Amino acid sequence: MQFSAQSNADKPTNSAIGKPMDRTDGRLKVTGAARYAAEFPMKNLAHAVVVRSTIARGRIQSIDTSAAEKSPGVIAVITHLNAPKLATTDPPEVSDRYLKVIPVLQDDRINHYGQHVGLVVAKTFEQAQYAATLVRVAYTQERPALEFAANLNRAYAPERINAGYPTDTQQGDLERGLSAADVRIDVTYTTPIEHNNPIEPHATIAVWEGDRLTLYNSTQHVDANQTSVASTLRIPKQNVRVVCPYVGGGFGSKVPTREHVILAAIAAKQIGRPVKVALSRAQMFTCVGHRPHSQQRMRLGAKRDGRLTAFAHESIMETAVFDEFAEQNGVMSRMMYECPNSLVTHRIVPLNLERAMIMRAPGEAPGSFALESAMDELAYALKIDPIELRVRNEPPRDPESGLPWSSRSLVQCFREGAKRFGWEKRLAEPGSMREGRYLIGYGVASATFPARRRPSSAIVRVLPDGRVQVHTGATDLGTGTYTVLTQVAADALGVPPERVQVEIGDSNFPPTPASGGSFGAASFCTAVQEACVALRQRLAALVRDDANSPLRGANEEAITAADGRLFTKGQPARGESYVAIMQRHNLAQGVEVRVDSKPDDAAQKFSMHAFGAHFVQVSVDPDTGVIRIPRFLCVIAAGRILNPKTARSQIVGGVVWGISMALHEETLLDARYGNYVNGNLGEYHVAVNADIPDIDAVFVEENDPHVNPLGIKGIGEIGIVGAAAAVANAIFHATGKRIRDLPITPDKLL
Ligand code: MOS
Repeated sequence: MQFSAQSNADKPTNSAIGKPMDRTDGRLKVTGAARYAAEFPMKNLAHAVVVRSTIARGRIQSIDTSAAEKSPGVIAVITHLNAPKLATTDPPEVSDRYLKVIPVLQDDRINHYGQHVGLVVAKTFEQAQYAATLVRVAYTQERPALEFAANLNRAYAPERINAGYPTDTQQGDLERGLSAADVRIDVTYTTPIEHNNPIEPHATIAVWEGDRLTLYNSTQHVDANQTSVASTLRIPKQNVRVVCPYVGGGFGSKVPTREHVILAAIAAKQIGRPVKVALSRAQMFTCVGHRPHSQQRMRLGAKRDGRLTAFAHESIMETAVFDEFAEQNGVMSRMMYECPNSLVTHRIVPLNLERAMIMRAPGEAPGSFALESAMDELAYALKIDPIELRVRNEPPRDPESGLPWSSRSLVQCFREGAKRFGWEKRLAEPGSMREGRYLIGYGVASATFPARRRPSSAIVRVLPDGRVQVHTGATDLGTGTYTVLTQVAADALGVPPERVQVEIGDSNFPPTPASGGSFGAASFCTAVQEACVALRQRLAALVRDDANSPLRGANEEAITAADGRLFTKGQPARGESYVAIMQRHNLAQGVEVRVDSKPDDAAQKFSMHAFGAHFVQVSVDPDTGVIRIPRFLCVIAAGRILNPKTARSQIVGGVVWGISMALHEETLLDARYGNYVNGNLGEYHVAVNADIPDIDAVFVEENDPHVNPLGIKGIGEIGIVGAAAAVANAIFHATGKRIRDLPITPDKLL
């Protein structure tokens, strides 16, 4: 794999930001010293295994736990019959779904297959696992709603879709726009249920000391865990501590607090011992969310020159009967291309399935498959190069909000990508390129993701020995939070990165938003940056009035920091080290500053998004339909890239998942019973090494002065957006077959 990134021209040469620094936690990870949730050593630890419903809808008639209770090692069996009463309504101030209460085992109602109906706690994991098989549950079954197609008549418009976006938007007059078009397409795409499979399975250890609860929980958001758990258990928030120094991936599934966390807490309370609940891969298919099935109708109309005259994107998805979730499939369509007449709608069909929930690039990932495939179909219908079609519909402002872009480098991404990829070698006619007997196809697609920032807090300390300590609640999903926070603090305080110690993943530290929504770096780094600046100012204020300091009387603006010292700009000799300042002022604890950083009004003034372009080559065996991907190029413009090495991994990871989504991933429902027939990694196929080509991830330079002070746009999700469409488009180019139903398996090409 190759990698290249252009540097930010305005940064000083000794800057840590922008360097491809190795992960600061890399050594701990490869040596096994990094401790994940299930690995915290605990005296007297008991192990718990969940019992899952085997029907999709009905009521529990009776539960016989006697055999389980008598089984060796069993300490307790908890069901709705003996579980403590939990809060079932949210505290009034709760606005965010991730802060809601999580009542579990509170009644006999079954809403989906695999629902938790009990928890068996034993001395060992094996004993708990065996005893869980002995719990006998009798049900009164009711007819579940499971078939999407058969329940389409129950589709309804939710009040809002995920992330608070409007459900429906409309501009101009769609019908008029369609009539005015020279070329029209009207096609429907479908995407299957897909499941999050982070490498580290969900796990929690719950420990009570008196009335205080500590949870070692694999999570993307310690602070939301703390709030949800406290309100569910009806205890003060400060009595709950959530610890999560490392996370082996989450992809959205670890943003909400999950029911097994509550189960661990109530079990630990009940037996007076620490309890661990470590979910199995199979269990995770029915209790940590999934991407819902979608059906997306696209209607596009354009003039001969490619200019869009009409655009409609209508999505229907499934949602749980007990919890409404509408993936925002159409949000990318609302802002991506210029079109005077448009309609974007979302409908949901309630089914007896576990709740669909956020999964990497919720909305944009499946929505971009429909949007970017449809743009490709339109390009072929018009006989216009697919890149050119996108360029011709480039909007000067955000078509939805009317706001100017804070920056938008989509065209640069396509131009740069076309050059690197050799797009000019593409022959326009589908099925016209071959290598031996293999059909070759080139495909492109656009990518985008909102650049957001949320309130975030941090404490930064300079210790008496000159080391810097950063404390913030943020989590590192394996993506590089520790590393980029180190780089930001090192630059802002002028110390080498080795002198910075970052501690995160603890609700005792100042609160942050989730590591999610691609807003982690923009939120956490800005807070740390601001805290460092405030700290520098505090130290500068000390020395300016200090008769013994060489900086006495210096202007605040004239003081800068590097190599662990403060000095006047252009006069490096006039200055002193942090160590010297703290010694003279008897600051035995060092100096610390806490900052509660809040976004400014940039989001009201600008439309802020990262953009990118995917280029893929496929090779299709015309006899077997087997699809190989020899190369993939992703060009991203996402503002300042803090660390090109970890950033590259994020984009490559997104592309890998996009390929997986295009060719492999699909959760198969048995609509008679509501169970997933391939609910385990053995049969739920994800891309493996042999499926993954030479992926090149490139960043184009983009200095965005508006998004946030550091110019960060976020890169956690954009890599998957459009990637599946690029593959589908390349397959069409290779074969002339347009597959509108994911995944694109060989049988669909024959
Ligand atoms: Mo992401 S789906 O917001 O973790």
